[in-house]
Amino acid sequence: MNIVLLGPNGQVGWELQRALAPLGRLTLLDRAAGGDLAHPDALATAVRALAPDVIVNAAAHTAVDKAESEPELARTLNALAPGQLARVAADLGATLLHYSTDYVFDGSGHAPRAEDAPTGPLSVYGASKLAGEDAIRASGCRHLILRTSWVYAARGSNFAKTMLRLAAERERLTVIADQIGAPTGAELIADASAHALRMVATRPELTGTYHLTAAGETSWHGYAEYVIATARAHGTALRVQQVAAIPTTDYPTPARRPLNSRLDCTRFTRAFDLGLPPWQQGVARMLTETL
Ligand SMILES: NC(=O)c1ccc[n+]([C@@H]2O[C@H](COP(=O)([O-])OP(=O)(O)OC[C@H]3O[C@@H](n4cnc5c(N)ncnc54)[C@H](OP(=O)(O)O)[C@@H]3O)[C@@H](O)[C@H]2O)c1
Repeated sequence: MNIVLLGPNGQVGWELQRALAPLGRLTLLDRAAGGDLAHPDALATAVRALAPDVIVNAAAHTAVDKAESEPELARTLNALAPGQLARVAADLGATLLHYSTDYVFDGSGHAPRAEDAPTGPLSVYGASKLAGEDAIRASGCRHLILRTSWVYAARGSNFAKTMLRLAAERERLTVIADQIGAPTGAELIADASAHALRMVATRPELTGTYHLTAAGETSWHGYAEYVIATARAHGTALRVQQVAAIPTTDYPTPARRPLNSRLDCTRFTRAFDLGLPPWQQGVARMLTETL
């Protein structure tokens, strides 16, 4: 396989560099190398010149709150650029692997959502990601769209590391307890992506839109408590005495976030014959690597 990877230095992109390496020839196209989503036409030209069999787009405008004040940029990066990539993929007969988010949903109710559940983004980010999905599906290219949630990685900053920093500084933390989802490691996403790409190479009927998260569910509050307990079990000294649960309404942010981020991943696990580990497994591993 001749693979082009966009966004190779993000959380998922970094892990994809490792996971995609055994599949064939991997070309990394970061912003400086012509992979700038802000210029979709130039991006399309750069990708087309590489004549890939597979285009993997791990780049995106992921600053959810910032997107509220720069909707045009979010739309260009998350919708127009993926649309252009999809047209290139369609022209070349290539497969496009793209990532999307639980934020395409409105977060109502308590049940995990399937892929065909009605969408209803609450934020500029969510709307731009949905528009990107729609553009890819409309292009007719062979594609895998993987919607994931609450992504973390050992590299760079993440919620768990922020909680540990605050827990070392403060006696009391307040953390949102009414948003429910599954923290999902970039490693898991990358490994499952590589597996899925291998399978669609010989079984193109498996292309389409899928949900891909770790198994189980928690709130940000439950996630914080797990991180703190795990760090203490590793012998990390923390000042924190109380982790108080608060509702989303007590922590206003520019972008509205869904309360119910549960994604039903049955379609993915069945199609690709994979099991998804409980979210605690990847978080514990990430903490072991970083503590
Ligand atoms: N993070 C989450 O919680 C989450 C949840 C659900 C879905 N997702 C989706 O999962 C995918 C991967 O997310 P992630 O967490 O790995 O994101 P991330 O760590 O924020 O990385 C995003 C990447 O996009 C690149 N990028 C930003 N603007 C760009 C531009 N104009 N041109 C080219 N590259 C640009 C960044 O490059 P630089 O390194 O140069 O800045 C970075 O490498 C995205 O599609 C995201 O929407 C993420």
